[in-house]
Amino acid sequence: MASKLGRTIFGQFLHRSAQTNVILPFQCIKRCMATEGQYVITDKKGEKQNVGFIQLNRRKALNALCDGLMKEVSDALDAFEKDKDVGCIVLTGGDKAFAAGADIKEMKDREFAEVYSGSFLSNWDRLARCKKPVIAAVNGYALGGGCEIAMMCDIIYAGENAQFGQPEITLGTIPGAGGTQRLCKAIGKSKAMELILTADRMTAQEAEKSGLVSKVFPIDQTVNEAIKTAEKIAGFSKITSAMCKEAVNAAYELSLQEGLHFEKRIFHATFATADRKEGMTAFSEKRKPTFTDN
Ligand code: COA
Repeated sequence: MASKLGRTIFGQFLHRSAQTNVILPFQCIKRCMATEGQYVITDKKGEKQNVGFIQLNRRKALNALCDGLMKEVSDALDAFEKDKDVGCIVLTGGDKAFAAGADIKEMKDREFAEVYSGSFLSNWDRLARCKKPVIAAVNGYALGGGCEIAMMCDIIYAGENAQFGQPEITLGTIPGAGGTQRLCKAIGKSKAMELILTADRMTAQEAEKSGLVSKVFPIDQTVNEAIKTAEKIAGFSKITSAMCKEAVNAAYELSLQEGLHFEKRIFHATFATADRKEGMTAFSEKRKPTFTDN
């Protein structure tokens, strides 16, 4: 039994490292509780195992986002939200494709009544509703739904080969999971219109210049850099990071006055937390804070 378990974990370790080029020390292998679903690999990463890791793993279809894959992503997010040790989540794909969009073959025969009454794509919002911060580590294609799910994340890191685009117009449809809205807010109307109306793609470097992604890395470092940043975020109080995230996201929904009011209320609310007291006390006592997420 022990050797079978060892083989399984070792097999997953090799498989995973081949996809992401993440090199883990040998002693990590036993600690890793990677789970491989049909479409998604989940794991916990970082020195303190406080980073939830979700890797889209439908390589042959360039991680096309079929219903089953999005259900697995949603389930993984539910599990990481419940996991008290996890303070940040990294979502990634493979080296060639983060995700090449919604599954065209799966949706090609659907009819209006079915997609309308079934609220097709609405369940994708689970990612945008995640309370914990999520970093997208994007190598290769992030097209259509792939670009949209990256934009649902809080930070996007891109590999040098990343390509972002909304090519739905070539299929006779439009972006349906936030592309027309989030892209516009991220890069402005003219650039968003150009991408959506022409189906042209944006390189990683252009995406960084226009503010869609925050950093660009060599392909083999994108995931590791995302994990490093996630570890840093997970080291702070989880209640404070959730409050930061909620306040920043309010900037997308509210007027400046309403947003400033909302921010002030959340800022005041931090004074009800033990972690705010601990953070300020630790500074005064010239020591590192010990956050308890309360
Ligand atoms: N849905 C379903 N399957 C997809 C897919 C998608 N969005 N994107 C890629 N695939 C499949 C291809 O059909 C192909 O499957 P096959 O081997 O069974 O034929 C496989 O993934 C590899 O794709 P392929 O097109 O052969 O790779 P490529 O390197 O030549 O081109 C892309 C890569 C991303 C440019 C091309 O696959 C593409 O344009 N995909 C669709 C992008 C899109 O329109 N997304 C928005 C969807 S709403």
